[in-house]
Amino acid sequence: MERHWKIGLFGFGTVGQGFYQIIQEQKLPIEVRRICVRNPNKERPGPPELFTYNAHDILEDPEIDLIVEAISETEPAFEIVKEALQRWLPVTSASKKMLALHLPELLALQQETNTAFRYEAAVAGAIPILHLLDEPLHEPVEEIRAILNGTTNYILTQMRLQHWSYEHALREAQRLGFAEANPASDVDGWDACYKLCLLARHAFGKILQPSDVEVQGISDLPVSLIEAAQQQGQRVRLLGRLKLVNGQLEASVKPEAVGPEDALFGIEHELNAVQVDLRYSGKQLFTGKGAGALPTGASVLADVLKLIEGKAYAYPKEAKSPKKVAA
Ligand code: HSE
Repeated sequence: MERHWKIGLFGFGTVGQGFYQIIQEQKLPIEVRRICVRNPNKERPGPPELFTYNAHDILEDPEIDLIVEAISETEPAFEIVKEALQRWLPVTSASKKMLALHLPELLALQQETNTAFRYEAAVAGAIPILHLLDEPLHEPVEEIRAILNGTTNYILTQMRLQHWSYEHALREAQRLGFAEANPASDVDGWDACYKLCLLARHAFGKILQPSDVEVQGISDLPVSLIEAAQQQGQRVRLLGRLKLVNGQLEASVKPEAVGPEDALFGIEHELNAVQVDLRYSGKQLFTGKGAGALPTGASVLADVLKLIEGKAYAYPKEAKSPKKVAA
């Protein structure tokens, strides 16, 4: 008989609910057995008997095979993922900030416990970019340019197309479930920065800390700048960049105007895009939905299926350049 996989889910916000909905709709041998949430007083669209407020109801349940961590608090997320690995439970995490800050410790734990750990939903939503970069490319990555935050791309698009105010566009991005619980992380560029740190590890084999990245968001961006770009036939994007210069990784997140000749010009609304410049093949563009319940939930499911196969990331670039990036 086919094995039935039982998931312990942490968090029932945008990502958790998207994942849960997809599991209900798909005919897969996968079941969400328990959901751990923080607030017992909140109404939730799911069977009440699934919910618990105690992490150990999941972590100590011998029936649970896999953990999905999708909570918004950084240190509690770290504790959950750490304890899951210590208990030999494969785990997927969507917590970008936590991963950007704690990835080296978690990878050491993955190795020590020989327990698989993935985090595809943490970077560029539905685009399987970490999975793609994890393939052993036979040529070096020279540069990455990327739109990594759906909220800011949506805001910039609506300000230009609909002439919405920044505040109105942000409220809509929150209503649509694109923004973080604290949207300052989106609009100040930090969410994109955390994702850029994770990309650095997979594209260049470099450990990049958020403090190594030059970060500027869009919250102070004058409307006149967006209008001036438009008058010149350009569009403003919040761009993340990674570039190797003399063996050192330069990293930044900042608003930039791009023209119609640029592949990132047509990336609108909550779409994300990652342009990878390879030494011999040149530029390749990967694009797709970067935020929202179902795209990120689908990305979590892709990780769960890989974890069922026992597949962790291979980090093929590590051996060549495992050095820490200079601050
Ligand atoms: N707040 C994030 C964004 C969600 O807008 O891109 C997906 O990581």
